[in-house]
Amino acid sequence: MGAIHALPDQLVNQIAAGEVVERPAAVLKELIENSVDAGATQIDVDVAGGGVRRLRVADNGSGIDREDLPLAVARHATSKIAVPSDLEAIATLGFRGEALASIAAVSRFAIASRAAARPHAWRLEVEGGTVRPVAPAALASGTTVTVEELFYNTPARRKFLRTESTEWAHCEEAFRRLALAHPEVGFTLQHNARAHERLLPGGRHARVAALLSGAFADNAARVEVEAGGIALSGFAVRPAYATQGTTAQYVFVNGRFVRDRVLAHALREAYRDVLHHDRAPSYALWLALDPRRVDVNVHPQKTEVRFRDSGAIHEFVRRAVERALAASAAEQPAVSAAEKLGLAAARTPPLAPATGPRADFAAAFPPTLQSGLALGTAEPSAFYARLFGQREGAPMEPGLPATGDDHPLGFALAQLHGVYVLAQNRVGLVLVDMHAAHERIVYERMKATVGTDVPGQPLLVPAAFAAEGREMAAVEEHAGTLAALGFDLAAFGPGTLGVRGVPAPLADADPVALARAVLHDLGEYGGSNVLAAHRDEILSTMACHGAVRANRSLTVAEMNALLREMEATERAGQCNHGRPTWYQLSIADLDRLFMRGR
Ligand SMILES: Nc1ncnc2c1ncn2[C@@H]1O[C@H](COP(=O)(O)OP(=O)(O)OP(=O)(O)O)[C@@H](O)[C@H]1O
Ligand SMILES: [Mg+2]
Repeated sequence: MGAIHALPDQLVNQIAAGEVVERPAAVLKELIENSVDAGATQIDVDVAGGGVRRLRVADNGSGIDREDLPLAVARHATSKIAVPSDLEAIATLGFRGEALASIAAVSRFAIASRAAARPHAWRLEVEGGTVRPVAPAALASGTTVTVEELFYNTPARRKFLRTESTEWAHCEEAFRRLALAHPEVGFTLQHNARAHERLLPGGRHARVAALLSGAFADNAARVEVEAGGIALSGFAVRPAYATQGTTAQYVFVNGRFVRDRVLAHALREAYRDVLHHDRAPSYALWLALDPRRVDVNVHPQKTEVRFRDSGAIHEFVRRAVERALAASAAEQPAVSAAEKLGLAAARTPPLAPATGPRADFAAAFPPTLQSGLALGTAEPSAFYARLFGQREGAPMEPGLPATGDDHPLGFALAQLHGVYVLAQNRVGLVLVDMHAAHERIVYERMKATVGTDVPGQPLLVPAAFAAEGREMAAVEEHAGTLAALGFDLAAFGPGTLGVRGVPAPLADADPVALARAVLHDLGEYGGSNVLAAHRDEILSTMACHGAVRANRSLTVAEMNALLREMEATERAGQCNHGRPTWYQLSIADLDRLFMRGR
């Protein structure tokens, strides 16, 4: 007899259970998801012993026909998808046809159901994978699934279970995620016969207030943006209300709670320059998009997704939240924000000592500047003045930012002629050449990847362009170098190149212009060790393409982000070509200009 044999179904199911069902909370998630998929408007959850002893989910959804009951607990049997192309546009929470079979293989399991408009309900029991015959049951409508003694027949799994209170906490969290994701459904939750939640069907605001906190729901900025077939709505905490303690971070994609790096990063970016670094933002956001644009068939537990166009999603989410935060900041009186931060009541800010004479700059300072000065002070400058009024610190000179001050470059006031950022700091006015400054930041960021490969960012739609012969050759010859720089380039046909991925730090750059510039450099410098010999030149070419162009209008949040990055970046005081990237004009300089105090 050979050594290889097929495993019995029961064992196959137990093995599969390990993927789907790691603890009671995972079972609960699968059961509630099935109820949501069945169109239930009311879902009642009963948990005992942290979910190990019993989990029961009762819904008023569509129910299951008698003849379908055995299929519901059979592996790879589902009513939700049928043909391969269905996998590309999954609109239900479940689709693998595996959850109930897996759960039934490792528990004492029962499902009772009454299909809509049927006179009777039917019940099916499964014990450790052994399916019993269908029997009549009493049930008014919908489906009730009961899972008892989870892992009673898999001691190895049982060992990994934690205390009852820990398992219960995980169950509660699983419940919370689904109840937040589906506020249109009414829910109840009880544990060990004690009621924990009673949620009426309603809107998102009420659901967030009930499950997260009323304070969060009331103080969060409202996000409501729709463009290009993507919609983001929900609530994002206003920076002034962010606490150091617990945070609630929920993102739902098409009704599914997900943990996703792209989304998490976009949200971090949106908060980057408006949130104190020791605070984490809270948010509950619902992203809706065509299911064809997101792959949920990535992970057995379906908490991970892959966006077909992650770059566009990232940008969309970041901007949507940034705008919502900026709008809410403008709405709110600055004083109340300051009060929330525990700052003293309004008073005239005592200005810090000015820098030494900078007659050269004052002389060169064009008096006509005012005419072009757009005072778009969206940020409450009085608030910042008050912040600075409380600080003492050494005056600073252009060059490296002074130490001992969180934000030596201050806070953005406005953008001038699409070229300069005007900011106010403790000393006075800061002028920033935004392209030069950003170029320096991008360059330093790329340089920081020394010795490692630059991470790539795939493009959803590859950018194709008609290439010259030498560009085609450079792609072939420098394949390794291009990959190390984070590019994914390929010949799409004779005379056509396609950019399929760009260096992640330059994800915002025009991919074709960027690729061509680098191909040009590679062709120009050549040689097998081109990267070692000309790295800085190539990176500087890339940085120039990655940097924000002049004449692009920046939001105040973007300007502040630039200032913060400049402070964090080595040698930000000089651009790649040695020109200064920013200039300080002190109040004394300005006073001299206006011949005040003389
Ligand atoms: N509460 C319910 N109400 C109505 N039908 C249900 C319910 N629970 C399960 N079913 C039916 O049983 C089938 C199997 O459920 P199961 O959870 O195992 O698989 P699935 O939901 O199709 O996919 P997945 O494994 O991804 O969850 C479902 O496709 C559905 O037809
Ligand atoms: Mg399911």
